[in-house]
Amino acid sequence: MRFIGNKENLLSAIYSRISAHGVKGQRFFDFFSGTTNVARFFKDEGYQIESNDLLYLSYCLQKAYIENNEEPKFEGLIPNIISNSGNIFATPLDNVVSYLNSIDDFYGFISQNYTPLGTSDLPQPRMYFSEENGLRIDAVRVMIENWRTEQLLSESEYFILLACLIESVSFYANVAGVYAAFHKKWDPRAVKRFALRPIKIHDNGKKNIVHNTDSLNLVSGIVTDILYLDPPYNERQYLPNYHLIETIARYDSPLIKGVTGMRPYSKEKSSFCSVKTALRDLEYVAENADYKYLIMSYNSEGIMSTDSILSVLSKYGSVALEEIEYRRFKSNSKGLSSIKREVKEQLFILSR
Ligand SMILES: C[S@@+](CC[C@H](N)C(=O)[O-])C[C@H]1O[C@@H](n2cnc3c(N)ncnc32)[C@H](O)[C@@H]1O
Repeated sequence: MRFIGNKENLLSAIYSRISAHGVKGQRFFDFFSGTTNVARFFKDEGYQIESNDLLYLSYCLQKAYIENNEEPKFEGLIPNIISNSGNIFATPLDNVVSYLNSIDDFYGFISQNYTPLGTSDLPQPRMYFSEENGLRIDAVRVMIENWRTEQLLSESEYFILLACLIESVSFYANVAGVYAAFHKKWDPRAVKRFALRPIKIHDNGKKNIVHNTDSLNLVSGIVTDILYLDPPYNERQYLPNYHLIETIARYDSPLIKGVTGMRPYSKEKSSFCSVKTALRDLEYVAENADYKYLIMSYNSEGIMSTDSILSVLSKYGSVALEEIEYRRFKSNSKGLSSIKREVKEQLFILSR
């Protein structure tokens, strides 16, 4: 999934750097889980995982990828929807996904508010999804909810299907990565017909625990070997950037407003997005959680300075700083010259 700060391409670098510092254990706590990529990686390494995020869309992914260990069988559902159990060579998840790709369109909240079909009366009709894909997304989302209401799905099957939907929609959204704005012309990705895709199940044979709250609420109860923090590194809150995925995940018909159809997000604001509170709250975590190692990913251009982070963390143990150069981009200054910039991904490694 396209997500700001997603560590997908840095996982092996992070793992080798922390391993070189002797960081290991059996329990891993992913404090700002986002896409769950980091938690998934450590789950595959055999760690028992606990994870959390403020966003419900992340919670759905955590339920499916982190808490759940089993391939869904859909025993309550398949006999009700598919005659002769579908394709016997496909998995039950593949069969259910293919069924969902064949159901009738539905004109629901997404079509009504985020496609030209339902917003043609606005000065700028919203073009997040094509009309056809809005109807497909609504159809799938409503069907998943109906199945849950009719008790045809177990809890993990419900979240696995929601995770499939969350992962799939970003392949068809008419946006440049985030949902704070939509393109005013159709991107080629947005005009392809929407198809739900199955997710991969991860099994570590352990009891993993997931949450959906402000991570600061969990600090006093944390007991872990590796506490991994990957906070936002600038003042932009996450929810406005992903409001539409959050609404698809919740499907709660929020009172939306503005050109983008933004949902309210007063409960999803993070203190780590404010210069005034980020360092204070980092110190609260470092001081009060029970861990052997605290690992923090950060960006060299983040709102907390490198020196201030080092000075806070070093109160609670020995700290090493690793830097991974991972992105160079050119920015044109008034079109006259181009400058190469290096952004460093930092890894603060605190050993207690
Ligand atoms: C940099 S992203 C994490 C990316 C993640 N490591 C990945 O690979 O996808 C930061 C995440 O922290 C979450 N977040 C920010 N403040 C939070 C808080 N106080 N409690 C819980 N989650 C928070 C955001 O919703 C976002 O998903």
